[in-house]
Amino acid sequence: MFLFDKTGTIEITESGTIMSEAAPLLFPNRPVSTRTPASAPVWMQELEERTEMAWTKVRSIGTQPRHHLSERATYVCTDVFKWVADLPANSIHAVVTDPPYGVIEYDEKNHAKLRKGRGGVWRIPPAFDGANRRPVPRFTVLSKQEILNLHGFFSSVAYALLRVLVPGGHVFVASNPLVSTMTFHAFMESGFEKRGEVIRLVQTLRGGDRPKGAEDDFTDVTVMPRSCWEPWGIFRKPFEGTVAENLRTWGAGGLSRISGDEPFKDVIQCSPTRGTEKQIAPHPSLKPQRFMRQVVRAALPLGIGILYDPFAGSGSTLAAAEFIGYKCLGTDSDKQYFQMVKRAFDPLSSLKLTSQK
Ligand SMILES: C[S@@+](CC[C@H](N)C(=O)[O-])C[C@H]1O[C@@H](n2cnc3c(N)ncnc32)[C@H](O)[C@@H]1O
Repeated sequence: MFLFDKTGTIEITESGTIMSEAAPLLFPNRPVSTRTPASAPVWMQELEERTEMAWTKVRSIGTQPRHHLSERATYVCTDVFKWVADLPANSIHAVVTDPPYGVIEYDEKNHAKLRKGRGGVWRIPPAFDGANRRPVPRFTVLSKQEILNLHGFFSSVAYALLRVLVPGGHVFVASNPLVSTMTFHAFMESGFEKRGEVIRLVQTLRGGDRPKGAEDDFTDVTVMPRSCWEPWGIFRKPFEGTVAENLRTWGAGGLSRISGDEPFKDVIQCSPTRGTEKQIAPHPSLKPQRFMRQVVRAALPLGIGILYDPFAGSGSTLAAAEFIGYKCLGTDSDKQYFQMVKRAFDPLSSLKLTSQK
């Protein structure tokens, strides 16, 4: 399969390995500068000034506990719906988030079981080839009612975000192949335009198992495909006029290019989160900085604006935004992750990545 064509086509082999000299060019160790030069057009200087004023206001909204992690990053410990309701309309420029995919895995009952190492919707898989496999939620067990609840939850998230995003503001929302149809549909029904999906090519240990308890009887059977990709829906708040007009007014409507002659692309290869990051931030759904930096960077087309992660977990979006140089807000309802982010933010945001995928 051939995917990119820059200094040479990149070939992705059947195993998903990138086989090209060009691969390191995609490597996200390149922050952008958000400082507007004095020679910038007036509209850009005004946009920057408005963003600065909005930033001071939105990072101090509400009475919930918070960490101001840096001049550009604030994490609030709160239920997302309680906090977003207080945000002014048109105050956020982009959202990058990894919500609880099936909703129930982070409810109190299942979350407590995960922490005790005792199942529930979380499956604690046996070690494989000497490697410890991470707990994964079993979305195949969702009842009809839970699927309806899932739709309701994502509709509420989408409605709430639609109000606070500026016209043309983008949402990147993580999902998985089992529930993405439902969650993405909820965003479209709520009024967002679907703008595509980023496919993260990632070899996980999810799926690919033989029938439980009868592995030797059915050696040639796999119950589900081994998952090798992760979908991230891309949505945009509708706007009137042209993209150029909207960029000048709101700083939104498009995505940041990788470089002058390379647009942002919708397939990103990125292996599972590695040991170093997991040690820094032991969250069960930690997303890798290698991937987050690429998506976060793309989300603000001019590098001006406020990014928001409603389900911030251990702060991987905030850390990526800090690295890139963007302002970012995060919320999460869990008190333990609220403590974790204080320790994890500096090491994650300053993490030097190697050229390994
Ligand atoms: C999939 S995890 C995000 C992990 C994050 N991507 C990271 O790298 O650390 C989803 C998060 O949503 C949080 N959450 C679930 N329901 C919430 C709610 N109603 N309001 C705020 N946070 C919520 C959970 O505590 C969990 O940390």
